Amino acid sequence: MSSFSSSFLLSLTQQYGTPLYVYDASLIRERYREMCSWFPYPKTKIFYAMKANYNPTILKILIEEGANIDAVSPAEILLAVKVGFKPHQILYTANMMSNEEIHEVKKLNILFNIGSLSELERYGTLYPHSDVCLRFNPDVVAGHHEKVKTGGKDTKFGILLEDLEKTKTICKQHHLKIIGIHEHTGSGIPQTSEQFQGIVNTLSIIKPENFPDLEFVDFGGGFQIPYHEDEPRADYITFAKKIVEKFQECCRVYGKNLSLYFEPGRYLVAESGTLLVKATTIKLNGTKMIAGVNSGFNHLIRPVLYDSYHKIINLSNPTGTPQLYDVVGNICETGDHFAKDRLISKIEEENILAICDTGAYGYAMGSIYNLRSMPTEIVIEHGKILFHKPALTPPKLIQKIISDHNY
Ligand code: LLP
Repeated sequence: MSSFSSSFLLSLTQQYGTPLYVYDASLIRERYREMCSWFPYPKTKIFYAMKANYNPTILKILIEEGANIDAVSPAEILLAVKVGFKPHQILYTANMMSNEEIHEVKKLNILFNIGSLSELERYGTLYPHSDVCLRFNPDVVAGHHEKVKTGGKDTKFGILLEDLEKTKTICKQHHLKIIGIHEHTGSGIPQTSEQFQGIVNTLSIIKPENFPDLEFVDFGGGFQIPYHEDEPRADYITFAKKIVEKFQECCRVYGKNLSLYFEPGRYLVAESGTLLVKATTIKLNGTKMIAGVNSGFNHLIRPVLYDSYHKIINLSNPTGTPQLYDVVGNICETGDHFAKDRLISKIEEENILAICDTGAYGYAMGSIYNLRSMPTEIVIEHGKILFHKPALTPPKLIQKIISDHNY
């Protein structure tokens, strides 16, 4: 959770209104440095998975800290380059690429991380003699929800380990030089043992006879943060030590000290973000107490999409008697909620609620569904506003839609 005090957050809502996404830049730096310190291996590099939050100020903070970028679309690459990342600092983890997309990204001189044989074949035909990274499916099923488990045969991701020989043949045919091997087990994995198994499975194919030209191995993201009040923080120090030991053992057999990459998204930015909303309507439906707010799943879809838990604090009445609430949004859909049967200090209309740990996959997954604008966003460091993007007022939103349609 961000270190901002309740009174500071309340003062921000007075100045900038609600709904409001506030990010604590210092916490992003802290998480980045913390993560770097876990890995006792000098050739470790962090590639920030910018899908978690593409806010350009956050990207700039991470450049300053020394991060690289894991991008998943041509526009993500363009934005990363625009804010200052160099092409060699970006890895493109492609997903169902069309040939047009391959050309578009290749022009930008970015390394491709390819996770299917068909894409590899097309890439090799279009750009023989290129360097490439291969994404393998680690054959482990893990993640905080079915929708974010990327390993195992039931998902669309990665080349199956059993297809190793076919992969080598395609690369040989097109003279592709395999310089990286990648795996990503899933997102928000609380059990480090499962994540470790994905790593072990991937390391099993890292041999000079399979890939003689390797420079790095990338173990993706998936680091979980404690969303629940009573959830312990995973012991990533011990985990990292275990990975490095295993990795170094593999490097010894391979005969070279390879670089070790990770692609965290959530861990770096989730806790920095708070979505501040205003209770607009308190409603007692039979025995159910409903607190309706001026935001909805178009601003934070995680509770609806993954049943995700985000702490909710009534900043205006923190010591009020706790009551059970369904905290719901203003979108015209039954599923639109932030919390169900949640104990929160008594909420009254006009109270400000903080929805915590929303810096990852919050704004980035947002939309203007129901024609409700995206919230105002601000990034703050040591009390200074680094970035302020006001929400579009309804007339401005309409103006934009009409002008986009050349109406
Ligand atoms: N690398 C790859 C190849 C990925 O697919 C992802 C996430 C990451 C890195 C970063 O994973 P992280 O460290 O953030 O767990 N919207 C979902 C999460 C989707 C993650 C998709 N891929 C959520 O809100 O939980």
